[in-house]
Amino acid sequence: MQFNSHFNQVSQSYLFSTIAKKVAAYSAANPDKTILRLGIGDVTLPLAPAVISAMHAAVDEMGAKETFRGYGPEQGYDFLKEAIQGYYAARGVSLERDEIFVSDGAKSDVGNILDIFADGNTVLVPDPVYPVYVDTNVMAGRKVMYMDANEANGFLPMPDYSVDADVIYLCSPNNPTGAAYTVGQLREWVDYANAKGAVILFDAAYECFVSQPGLARSIFEVEGAKTCAIEFCSFSKTAGFTGTRCGYTVVPFALERGGMSANKMWLRRQTTKFNGVAYIVQRGAAAVFGPEGQRQIQANLDYYRANAALIADCMDELGIRYTGGKNSPYIWLKCPGGMDSWKFFDYLLENIQVVGTPGAGFGANGEGFFRLTAFGSREVTAEAVQRLKKLLSR
Ligand code: MLT
Repeated sequence: MQFNSHFNQVSQSYLFSTIAKKVAAYSAANPDKTILRLGIGDVTLPLAPAVISAMHAAVDEMGAKETFRGYGPEQGYDFLKEAIQGYYAARGVSLERDEIFVSDGAKSDVGNILDIFADGNTVLVPDPVYPVYVDTNVMAGRKVMYMDANEANGFLPMPDYSVDADVIYLCSPNNPTGAAYTVGQLREWVDYANAKGAVILFDAAYECFVSQPGLARSIFEVEGAKTCAIEFCSFSKTAGFTGTRCGYTVVPFALERGGMSANKMWLRRQTTKFNGVAYIVQRGAAAVFGPEGQRQIQANLDYYRANAALIADCMDELGIRYTGGKNSPYIWLKCPGGMDSWKFFDYLLENIQVVGTPGAGFGANGEGFFRLTAFGSREVTAEAVQRLKKLLSR
């Protein structure tokens, strides 16, 4: 018997687990200090009232013989898929209901989707990158190639026709850099993928933060994307579902290679390996798309946007360069004084007890950068900003 030796090639601990451990150790040694967490992108506002009342109603249904439900469809209930379909249609993107698969979140699906790709495929990821794209492929023994995302290209790498990749990961608005592609830029990626026969895995988990016209919220806003892209989305950041768990993945019918349909394979995979999302949770998720739900989640998003503006203003005042913070909940800043990212992490933790995420954790190009999230409470964000100003203006 042998275990999968590819696990030897990933770091011992997931980035956010490493940070949590470091912070827990500091906190245990300094119980009198108040720690301000702007590290992992976890939301702090409660679920919207429309979501809660839909979930309560669903709980009652589950408690009555006439309305009780057992196993649900692994790919999601039609009522939720139709609500998602309507959400896309409102933005001019037409999807078939069964191109939508409800999941427990984008992170799981971004990893699980690899089941439908051959082991020998080469994978192209930006650097810096959300670590899940790399780690899941390394675990499967796939070859990973990197493309530079840096200050010179505004952290938005564009296709290079001299590079041949089978699977390409794009995330926009980007985690960690906050940079967001325009529809025109994504069109170049779609053209490249169709020309090369590659597939783009498009992570749209932060699409709800886009407010600037011209920036893409879905890769399917680009004509031709349905023959080369799969899109992942989540209720986590849109509607505060990080603890409730619900997301969705769009696998177009038109995406075929070698006579095989990605949609059929994903359906086969999900019905075999995934139990589906709880009925109660799916009812809550569907309520997000109702008029009340939309109004309430937009108010929550505005709250996080205001946090992002507080952090961005602080960076402006301190003369620190950054990206994001506008169409994104992340502020990706250059560590002052040329400090490396983990050193800056320790410096902030030890001096002002502000926790962020070291850029180096997202890849080699992240070295010298640092990520702060706007998902904290207003009080924590405002206090963190005060402490940052005091420490860094010295
Ligand atoms: C992050 O902080 O990058 C995100 O919270 C990670 C995630 O959503 O899985």
